Amino acid sequence: MKTVLISGASSGIGAELALILAKQGHHLILTARRDHLLRELAVQCESNGAASVRFIVGDVCDVAANPKVKEFIRTGGEPVLINNAGMAQFGDYAETRWDDHAAQIETNLVGTMKLTHAVLPAMLDHKSGLIINVLSIAAKHVFGGAAVYSATKAGILQFGNSLREEYRRSGIRLTNILPGAVNTPLWDSQGFSPPTEKMLSAVSVAQTIADVIALPADRVVDEITLTPPDGIL
Ligand SMILES: NC(=O)c1ccc[n+]([C@@H]2O[C@H](COP(=O)([O-])OP(=O)(O)OC[C@H]3O[C@@H](n4cnc5c(N)ncnc54)[C@H](OP(=O)(O)O)[C@@H]3O)[C@@H](O)[C@H]2O)c1
Repeated sequence: MKTVLISGASSGIGAELALILAKQGHHLILTARRDHLLRELAVQCESNGAASVRFIVGDVCDVAANPKVKEFIRTGGEPVLINNAGMAQFGDYAETRWDDHAAQIETNLVGTMKLTHAVLPAMLDHKSGLIINVLSIAAKHVFGGAAVYSATKAGILQFGNSLREEYRRSGIRLTNILPGAVNTPLWDSQGFSPPTEKMLSAVSVAQTIADVIALPADRVVDEITLTPPDGIL
């Protein structure tokens, strides 16, 4: 049994992961901004069999500064952090509002760094911990119209790679997961109709993350690239 903090748990990959981990009996800490979705999910996770479910509502950067994070992550078992909160605003770089660029940087890049900074001391005290960063194939593959999103994901890729080396002899494992397109609400606000029927399902990605969590501590999975059968869409 582990204590798993999932950022961006209110929707998509994060919500599906919470439901899977609940069935496995872990302690869960769910975070996101939408209070009502987290409350509904917490009830579902409790009835699915989670050892305990707590949630912290707010922007990922604010959550990282909330003292409850440091307290809850010490609930019991190995601490696990799933850096999943993220947003995308695809489109012409010059025409996209700076506020939308800044929101991606704050959420995807700064939020991940802050939450990791908040949780790492508990992992070091526990002498073991697992960090899984949900990135994107956009961290490596070049797409037009995704300059800032790609930069945030590429930034976290190297942030994670560096942390893995820094802390691996302290019992901290870190996995970067790079999914291709996933059929989630992330696509709803993009202003175009992507081929959702060809995408990975959120459950498939969540199950892959759960599989990494279930691995024994005698191995480190550095990176997983996960694409739908048709490849990069
Ligand atoms: N969908 C894809 O094709 C795809 C592909 C590769 C990687 N990814 C990555 O997968 C991760 C999960 O995305 P998803 O596809 O599952 O999309 P989603 O359904 O839109 O979920 C995004 C989650 O992030 C949370 N979030 C967004 N901005 C936040 C903020 N400022 N503070 C706190 N939480 C925030 C959202 O919750 P609230 O709105 O309630 O805060 C939501 O729970 C993201 O990092 C995304 O980049 C997605």
